[in-house]
Amino acid sequence: MTTIERTVLGAGIDRVDGAQKVAGRAPYSSDVTYPGMVHAVLVRSAIAAGTIAGIDASAAEGEPGVLAVITPYNAPRVARGPESGFWRQPPPPLQGLEIAHHGQYVAVVVADSRERATAAARHVAVFYRPGDPVLALDDPRAETVRDPFGSDQTRGDSAAALAAADVVVDAEYTTPDETNNPMGLFTTVAAWDGERLTVHDATQWPAGARAVLAGAFGVPEEGVRVLAPFVGGGFGAGLRVWPHVILAVMAARVVDRPVKLGLTRPQMFTGVGHRPATVQRIRLGARRDGTLTAIEHESVQPSAVNDDNIVESVTQVSAVGYACPNVTTRDSVRRLNVPVPTSMRGPGDAQGHFALECALDELAYEIGVDPVELRLRNYADVHPELGLPWSSKALRECLEVGAERFGWWDRHPTPRATRRGDILVGYGMAGVSFFWFQQPCAARATVDREGRAFVRSAATDIGTGTYTVMTQLAAERLGLPVDRVRVGLGDTDLPRAPMQGGSGMTASMGSAVHDAAANLIQAFLDLVAGDIAAPLRGRRAEEVLAADGGLRLRSDPASGESYREILERHDLAELTADGSAAPANPQELGLAPAGPFAARFAEVHVDADLGRVRVARLVSVVDAGRILNVKTARSQIIGGTVGGIGMALLEETVTDPATGRIVNGTLGDYLVAVNADVPDLDVTFVGEPDRFNPVGVKGVGEIGLVGVAPAIANAVFHATGRRIRSLPLTLDKLL
Ligand code: MOS
Repeated sequence: MTTIERTVLGAGIDRVDGAQKVAGRAPYSSDVTYPGMVHAVLVRSAIAAGTIAGIDASAAEGEPGVLAVITPYNAPRVARGPESGFWRQPPPPLQGLEIAHHGQYVAVVVADSRERATAAARHVAVFYRPGDPVLALDDPRAETVRDPFGSDQTRGDSAAALAAADVVVDAEYTTPDETNNPMGLFTTVAAWDGERLTVHDATQWPAGARAVLAGAFGVPEEGVRVLAPFVGGGFGAGLRVWPHVILAVMAARVVDRPVKLGLTRPQMFTGVGHRPATVQRIRLGARRDGTLTAIEHESVQPSAVNDDNIVESVTQVSAVGYACPNVTTRDSVRRLNVPVPTSMRGPGDAQGHFALECALDELAYEIGVDPVELRLRNYADVHPELGLPWSSKALRECLEVGAERFGWWDRHPTPRATRRGDILVGYGMAGVSFFWFQQPCAARATVDREGRAFVRSAATDIGTGTYTVMTQLAAERLGLPVDRVRVGLGDTDLPRAPMQGGSGMTASMGSAVHDAAANLIQAFLDLVAGDIAAPLRGRRAEEVLAADGGLRLRSDPASGESYREILERHDLAELTADGSAAPANPQELGLAPAGPFAARFAEVHVDADLGRVRVARLVSVVDAGRILNVKTARSQIIGGTVGGIGMALLEETVTDPATGRIVNGTLGDYLVAVNADVPDLDVTFVGEPDRFNPVGVKGVGEIGLVGVAPAIANAVFHATGRRIRSLPLTLDKLL
């Protein structure tokens, strides 16, 4: 294991932005102020469906400090922003009288302080003509959209294979709505200067926000600057351009002053997305020895009546996770009068793995094959859909190393057989095959005469460690110590970058930084090409390596020059190069792009009388390709695992079935895992650098969460003999 680790791990240096953050010097959007800035506060709908019959804003307008009350009756018209390359944004706010969900914005109050705006907002009288909301997935009025993500798969003949199978597992699994709840409350500050717009936002995608805002307000993209150098967490909530962002910009235009709009925690439950619930039916067909012959996996999830698309393929893992000749996967969406959903950490895969990995556990007990062994017997050595070898895959090592570290083989195979006093002890595990994701990205690299590098891109770091790992990567590629490298992010004036989402940023931006660094090295070689005495004169890039603050000859590392020497000779202060990268073509490369893989092993203690579940141990072994920083990567896995424990045991957004109001929309009522819920977490990285991108990385963000819930649910079954197929695993389900 240590040998494997040594090949993939990059030094676990501290976060380069850590001191700035703990000292309060990192400017989050909520910290931004402008001279003359005023504050906007939102008014939300008290019904889930129907129309607004009238709004009386006169009392609010008369409150002290109030500058404007914006409602659908007086709001400027804005367009629905463009698709901006990935998905369509939610419809812009205050453009009509229709109510699509409880909590929809119906007015904005702008005042000279947040407190005065909040006080005045209570005086906005909204009159409704209520409709009858569609709130249940099985409501026949709900419109159904089949294969909304274009990801449904059919291979072989799963129906025939199920009919012929020795053993069939057929079960329904459900997962609830969950809410992302980043710690930082989303805040937007908007300032117009004529037709130019500056926006400070809590976004995972500055370039996406810029495109949408330019489209919405009919101004050129070049005139819009979105800044998000620091974001207080996202978990997917910051992927889309939400109505409050449009409203902050609209308010700034209406009052002709810079405007700050900060969401409250309850507004974070209705206004920035959530993980949609799923109802999943899964059927596994197998031979007696555990060889899978068929998988059918169907999932239905809610979406909003006014939302066009989200990306949340729940069943795809069943098409690619294991070698199985006959597979059918189907996702569909039903439109309800609920807030617009969004991706939440490990979107789709988090829910899909719960059904697949629990159903495999059911199969393992049914046929008496060890759960780890069952997964190894169905190991997908090549990509089951593409038939190509994986760009990298160490799921086998994840399973074997994890079983060893956990002590899996000491487990008593019989459920409810291990007891310590009142405590039932259970061991459970899950395998994880997470999706692959990389997007086009650009970056710029500069080296100056002091031997310092500055690398930048319009990406964000939402707490994942992007500043740090890009510093390390640039330092390595340019041959500089990390303390000579600075990384700039979170500004749309920088080269265009994709969303920080889908665990794809390190591969996307890393590949762009790799390219920019190579181009910069080439620029230095071009510069010295005519230098009579230069040791690097006429050398090609393949002949040199970046080391010791400059370029050295591979054949003779003592020969070469520092960047400083070259720049001084040419009387240049600095040299800059741009780079960009897009994902490779699998067919051209002859490789199936692999996402990360993992195995998780959980020990749970269940109180035999009370049904209370405690997670006693959790072992994760992860193949995320090359790890640029073992410390930040481990932190990602630990953070995700804590989220996974919450998903398993606690998290559930509850909507009142009569009114469509979220009843637990505060952090006092919506339970997340806290320190007392979390044991020491054991994390190990295995595998080798991935071959699909030049940096060798795979996503390490979201896989921390995926597979935790099924491992825990399977451990609960082993402890109690009770198969709970609906999350969260609350004690009432175990009594
Ligand atoms: Mo992630 S749910 O793609 O921010």
